[in-house]
Order: sequence, then structure tokens, then C-alpha cells
Amino acid sequence: MNKNFYITTPIYYPSGKPHMGHAYSSIVADIFARFKRLERYDVLFLTGTDEHGQKIQKEAKKNKKDPKIFCDEISETFRSLTKKLNLSNDDFIRTTEKRHYKSVIEIWNRLVNSGDIYLDNYSGWDSISDEAFYDEDEIEDKNGKKISKSSGSSVEWVEEESYFFKLSAWSEKLLEFYKNNQNFILPSSRKNEVERFVEKGLKDLSISRTSFTWGIPVPKNEKHVIYVWLDALTNYISALNFPDIEDKKYKEFWPADVHIIGKDILRFHAVYWPAFLLAAKLPLPKRVFGHGWILSDDKKMSKSLGNILDPIEIINKYGIDQLRYYLVKEVSLGNDGSISMENLKNCINNDLANNYGNLCQRVFSFIKKNCANKIPKSNNLHDIDNKLLENLKNNLPTLINLMNNQDLNEYIKIVVSFSFDANKYFNDSEPWAVKKKDPKRMNTILFTISQQIKNISILLNPIIPEATNKVLNSMNISKNDISIDKINDMNTLNCDKELNNLDILFTKIEDDN
Ligand code: MSP
Repeated sequence: MNKNFYITTPIYYPSGKPHMGHAYSSIVADIFARFKRLERYDVLFLTGTDEHGQKIQKEAKKNKKDPKIFCDEISETFRSLTKKLNLSNDDFIRTTEKRHYKSVIEIWNRLVNSGDIYLDNYSGWDSISDEAFYDEDEIEDKNGKKISKSSGSSVEWVEEESYFFKLSAWSEKLLEFYKNNQNFILPSSRKNEVERFVEKGLKDLSISRTSFTWGIPVPKNEKHVIYVWLDALTNYISALNFPDIEDKKYKEFWPADVHIIGKDILRFHAVYWPAFLLAAKLPLPKRVFGHGWILSDDKKMSKSLGNILDPIEIINKYGIDQLRYYLVKEVSLGNDGSISMENLKNCINNDLANNYGNLCQRVFSFIKKNCANKIPKSNNLHDIDNKLLENLKNNLPTLINLMNNQDLNEYIKIVVSFSFDANKYFNDSEPWAVKKKDPKRMNTILFTISQQIKNISILLNPIIPEATNKVLNSMNISKNDISIDKINDMNTLNCDKELNNLDILFTKIEDDN
């Protein structure tokens, strides 16, 4: 069986500092990457920055900087965000790198050779901030200004010489592909949206610009630069050393298993990208997952509303696991979801501090006090002990399936319920009450609950890696045993060594904090 897994985030425009939306796309992708590693897959997780195009050129000019120097600086803030978010990315690609140039030029040449590119004149509506062209029926008037109906950003009329990609020729092939690959676009509501768009018939796509210079020049006609989306999408194969299709990385990891993106860039990933690849005679990615928007107090985040939540501020104040957990617990992955500081506090207090954190802390301090700080051995489990462990074990196939279908919310709900059950089991079993009269029973309870803490920690590991690693390290669980196939394996529990000290995992947040 192929045990490789390739997952990507969108590459971010380094036009301003990273915000919560960027953090969200990256955290979601990181969780799936980490989960596949727990399933012992060889994972390649890619993120990076999308540095060409008019938007970046304009922003650099505004800052009185050369575009490359401007990108160097801001790309670095995205790179350091990967550390802050505790991302496990294996690579970070920048579209200004040499490896990416080579790859884009090859794609362009392949499209020329297949007869899919022609030179003509473009006239239509252009949005600099979306780096997208819109048809007449996709724009509207607002306060005397023309804006895109879908994104709300302003558009201007442009007329210039342009190369076109024969997108119209690929409608049928795309529809056939969607039909044969029902899970290519997820969630399925998004699939319907894309199919309706393609069924209307696709227009040829303008794929070069002459009105600015910040981009990859078109081979043999350097007054044109390649359209930034054709440039950007190619990053997914540049990172695999395309055009060297004999390269190990390319062979092992292409086609990608899943591109994680926001719903606003679905058309680029689910229509244009597969069409480019079909024309270039390259395999298509297996899945595009479009998540919803993060709203701040029910509104779209914007500078003018002053409701932008800065991920760095939240991490510095509350911690990275807290942010990771909150975002994916609170927001239903395929839909838009509102976040607020009030809910963040409740979520940290209820789920993390009172539930999982409290469970680990009270069990470990009980073991420290009563069992010389070692998890007691036991092979005398009662029905109630087996029931607790088996409930989790029996749910494993469901949990794996949920993660492999990006149903993160249901996964978390189930794992959190295990943690509630474990707390209840500990309360009801009252090891403190049997300590004197039946120490063997006390040992079994502690063995069982420790086993369950280990299991829950492995399942929560992709979501809150910092805290769960602390717990697993404190239990002396070896790295190799932190794996889905070791869940409920009694032998992985280390009963010979003392527990390592475990600091408070999640501090409860008081109201004025
Ligand atoms: N550069 C393109 C992507 C090219 S991929 C080949 C781009 N960049 S972006 O920086 O504007 O956005 C990157 C991602 O952030 C997108 O997936 C977008 O959906 C996501 N988000 C930006 N704001 C968001 C929210 N408020 N909520 C959730 N995600 C949103 O598009």
C-alpha cells in the first residue's frame, strides 16, 4: 500500500501581516498532516508565500521598497508564523525561488506545445486585490463604484494584449472528472457550486499581463508576465522538483492527497488548476477541501470594522494549543464560523483546563502520592475498566475515517467525550476509597485511567501537540509508541519508570483576563 501523503496549504500573499484566516488554513492542514504521521504515513506538508503579481508590486511601491526586498521581509513573517503556530511543515516555498521559476516555465511551455495558449486582446473587469478577472454578471455597483459580487473588492476595466488559455475546451473533461471522482471537491456543497459554474460553460482565461512587470516573464515574449494564479498554483509541483518527473519526491508525492484552501479560492483550485494539469498532461490532485470563513463577532474581519483578531496576540496571551484547539472546535470546518474572545475563554476553561488538563493532573498527582510516582501494573481489569478502554478502541475505525474525510469537528467531539468519560470513571471508581482495603483494585483503576490518558493524548496530539507531548513525555511513552496502531496496546505503558514532572497544562482564564 502506498504510505505517502502530500498535503498543502494555500501559499499566502505577503502583502500584509498574517491574520487569523491564514492561521486557520495552516492549522487545519497541520492537523491532518500530523494525523497521517500518527498513522505511520510518510508525510510531505507544504506551505509558503505567493509573491508575484500586481497586488504585491503595488504594496511594495506604497512601502517604497523594491518588490523582492519587500517580499523577503514579509515572507519571513509568514515563515516565523509557522513556528508560532507549531506547524510541522516539511517545506516552505516562495514563488520567487529558482526552483519555482523552472517549474512555471515548463508548465507554460507544455501548454504552448499542447496548443492550449493563444495571443489576443483582453478587455474586462479586473480586481487587483483578488488577482482575478470578472465577467459583467459577476460585478455590481456600490456607491457609484464597481465591485465584485463575490468578494466585494473593487474592480477596474482593463484592455490589453494578453495570452489566453483555452479553458473553454476543458469544460466537458472537467465535468467528467468531477463525476468520476466524487470526493475531489469537499465538502459536497462546494462541489455542487463548482459543477454549476462549469456547466454554464467556461470562457477562455487570460493568463498574462503587460501592465506591470513583477512576475515571471512569458518565454519568448518578455513584455508579458505570467498570470499570478498560473504561477502560484504551480508551487504545488515546484516543491516536488518538477519538471524533473523522475525525481523521487515528484514520483512519491504527486498527485497531492489534499489541497486545503479557503472557499474564496475554490474556483482557482477546482477548475483552473485541474484544467492546466489536464492540458499539461499531468495527473490531477486527489482532493481539494474548501473551508469556510472565520468571522469575528459574526462579521467578516476587516481593517475598517476594527475586528481583526491577531493570532500572535492570542498565542502570546493564552498559548498556541489553546488557539489551535479553539479554532477547530468552534468553527465547523466546511462552513463560516464566528469566533470571539468570550467563547475562546469558555472553550479553554471547559474543554482544556477542566476536562483534559484536569484529568491528567489529578491522576498523575494521585499516582505520585500513593504509588511512588509510578503507574501501577495490573492485569486484572474488571468489566467497567474494559468498557472504558474498549469504547475508545471500538471507535477507532470511525475516528480514522472521520479524519481521512476531513470531518474534524465530529472527530473532536468524540475524543472530547472520551475525556469526559475518563473523568467520570475516575470519580466513580474512587481509587482513594479503595486505597486501604483493596490496593490491587486501586492499582487497576490507575492502570486503566493511565492507559486511557495515553490513548486520548495520542488522539488529541495532532490538535494540541504541545500539551499532549508534555503528557506523553511525562509518562515516558517512547516516540515510536505515539501512534494510532499503539492505541490500547497495554505494553506501551511504562510502569517501571517514575512519571516526569508535569506542569499545569492549561491555566484557567478569569473573567477580567
Ligand atoms: N495567494 C493566494 C493563494 C494561492 S494558492 C496557490 C491567496 N492568498 S491569501 O493570503 O489571500 O489567502 C490565503 C488563504 O487564507 C485562503 O485560503 C483564504 O481563504 C484564507 N483566508 C483569508 N481570510 C480568511 C478568513 N477570514 N477566514 C478563513 N480563511 C480565510 O488567496
